[in-house]
Amino acid sequence: MKRILIGVAWPYANGPIHIGQVGGCYLPPDIFRRYHEMKGNEVLMVSGSDQHGTPVTVTAEEEGLTPKETAEKYHEINSKALEDLGVEFTLFTYTMNETHKQVAKDIFKTLYEKDHIGLDTMETFYCKNCERSLPDRYVIGTCPECGQEDIKGDQCDECGTLLDPEDLIEPKCMHCGETPTLRESEHFFLKLSNFQKPLEEYIEDKDYWKNHVLNFTKGWLKEGLEDRPISRDMEWGISVPIEGYEEKKIYVWFEAVIGYLSTSIKWSEEYDGDWTKFWKNPDAEHYYFLGKDNIPFHTIIWPAMLMGYDEELNLPYDVPANQYMRIGGQQLSTSRGTIVSLPDILDDFSSDAVRYYITMVMPEVKDTNFTWEEFQDKVNSELVGNLGNFIHRVLSFTYSNYGEVPQARELNKRDKKMLNKIESLTEEVGENIENRKFKEGLKKILELSREGNRYFNDKAPWKDLEDDEKAAKTTLNVSLRLVKALCVSAAPYLPHSMDTLWDYLYQEGSVHEQEWDEALNPLEPGNELAKPEPLYETIDLKEMEEDSKLIGSLNKLNLKVGKITKVKEHPNADKLYIARIDLGDEKRTLVAGLKPHYDKSEMEGKKIVVVANLEPAKLRGIKSEGMMLAAQEGDNVSLLEPKGDIGENIQGTNPDADQISFDDFQEYELRTVVWENDKILSKKELEPIKSEKFENLSVALISEGKAFLLKDSRGPIHLDKNLSHGIKIM
Ligand code: MF3
Ligand code: ZN
Repeated sequence: MKRILIGVAWPYANGPIHIGQVGGCYLPPDIFRRYHEMKGNEVLMVSGSDQHGTPVTVTAEEEGLTPKETAEKYHEINSKALEDLGVEFTLFTYTMNETHKQVAKDIFKTLYEKDHIGLDTMETFYCKNCERSLPDRYVIGTCPECGQEDIKGDQCDECGTLLDPEDLIEPKCMHCGETPTLRESEHFFLKLSNFQKPLEEYIEDKDYWKNHVLNFTKGWLKEGLEDRPISRDMEWGISVPIEGYEEKKIYVWFEAVIGYLSTSIKWSEEYDGDWTKFWKNPDAEHYYFLGKDNIPFHTIIWPAMLMGYDEELNLPYDVPANQYMRIGGQQLSTSRGTIVSLPDILDDFSSDAVRYYITMVMPEVKDTNFTWEEFQDKVNSELVGNLGNFIHRVLSFTYSNYGEVPQARELNKRDKKMLNKIESLTEEVGENIENRKFKEGLKKILELSREGNRYFNDKAPWKDLEDDEKAAKTTLNVSLRLVKALCVSAAPYLPHSMDTLWDYLYQEGSVHEQEWDEALNPLEPGNELAKPEPLYETIDLKEMEEDSKLIGSLNKLNLKVGKITKVKEHPNADKLYIARIDLGDEKRTLVAGLKPHYDKSEMEGKKIVVVANLEPAKLRGIKSEGMMLAAQEGDNVSLLEPKGDIGENIQGTNPDADQISFDDFQEYELRTVVWENDKILSKKELEPIKSEKFENLSVALISEGKAFLLKDSRGPIHLDKNLSHGIKIM
């Protein structure tokens, strides 16, 4: 028996987990854990919500909540979503817990006492306008590495580079757009340079790491490790445990990685376990699952902290970080945007279908693309058409003819060949999982059921029912052994459906309690079978669009005809205008990113479509009370011009009054947008987008095969329930 610690990157409690993260770091460890538990190994799998730092305070400000409320809200949401996906931890906690605070402080203090943490002055940003210091995420600017604009000062989301706010090109205060000034301030530094040698030695035998993880780590070491600031001037977080400095907070990253250890200790406290068996045991293996942007924290900083704190502690054995899984390619569905949250996708699809496809596009060695089209195709042809189909054919045929496991007679060559396949392929599944090659393992399962379908067709037991019943029974017996092998070896991947299948076979226990080798044990002849139902459903995205949430919320959009009375330039933003809008019975201010596309004078006097029931959002310090609709094709952006009267509701009953046209796209007049029965867009208008141009399309009005992107100043509008722009549809 082995002892295995699985550390899983702690999701920030600042939003729902999105499916890119599921493919990156949440699904792999769960497959790995389930497999090892079946192998009889003792596994401790820990993680929790990362609740401190600027990621949480920034979101809290945007949502009008306190940091604590935000941290608790998303902890709830994410714990539930992971549970619904079947991702189970030994303990999934959160960084606000007491044990964590104590352990974090103890590590900070100990490293300080051992002179691995020092105190020094450094220059940090301060905004004169807002009269506050600006730690990492409060400064935005352009990435010096990849040129991506409007990134946050701690890390570039696009290329993953770790940054200090001073690295940004044209740094700006996130709140007011002001260029911040540098001020001297005292901070604590982790003396990474102390660990240069020990870390070099540590990675010497890590040639089994993934290439990109090893290369990245070697790159950092080659450049020479620099001391890094690990305190921040902010209110939210764990206080620096050094007398006189309690006002400062421990940097969220330094603190969060400690969660792996603190949670193991908390598990000991709560469940009477012994964390030292996992952490002070040279034979225990530690695996850390994370996305590529988290690599240096787990291969350099965390090992350094552990070495400096207590030499007896285990260091990471492997850090099988994944690359990025992006949402892209052609969009089959207009309403499913480029950011898809885990709770949302689980609202619409079964967890095993989601697990299936995400495993198939897992970014194990390079970036991959999740597309809705492929999701539908793969689930329908492979999960339903191959695996589900084989299992259901065998079960339903056997059940209706015998109701129990039939006895086999002596096996012929074909039967034996099938049994050999079962043995070799299930073994390969296990090997692949063990080697962190999850996609490959799942492909072996598919190969096995494909073999099964072939065997079942070749042997055609239905033909033998009359004249050679023993032959039919033998085929069914062997097929059931294959079904059982699939059930056990696919259990780590498809935990819910395989448990249902176990029930059809045995009506007691759970597949997750079985040993891995149980896959090859034959079923007892005479064992009763339960009446089977198909395990999976086919997906029809088009049909789903009809009653999807999005369209539900679109229906509730309140669109009104407004008139632009005055346009001003936004003082703190290059691309934004501030427009005054007349809505008939009221006037409003809208902030819109139209400066690159319109002169002020062109806009004044124009009638526009206003999304009138959005929660006001601050754009670079100015409150915007709604949005105007514009269409985009390539670089061409054009306001939608309604024909109705000012103040008129666009969801009126007179379709003629609702005609909208575009400056530059007259030929695509949106005549076909009919607002009846409370519906804004009929199915016909929501046809799948075919054009490659709309790769990042989020929501669009569709007309005659053309799509018109709805945008606001911050980019495409995502009309899902976790609106990325803080816009709420009432
Ligand atoms: N919260 C970080 C992220 O979402 C990951 C932290 S991993 C930890 O990128 F171990 F440090 F907690
Ligand atoms: Zn400011």
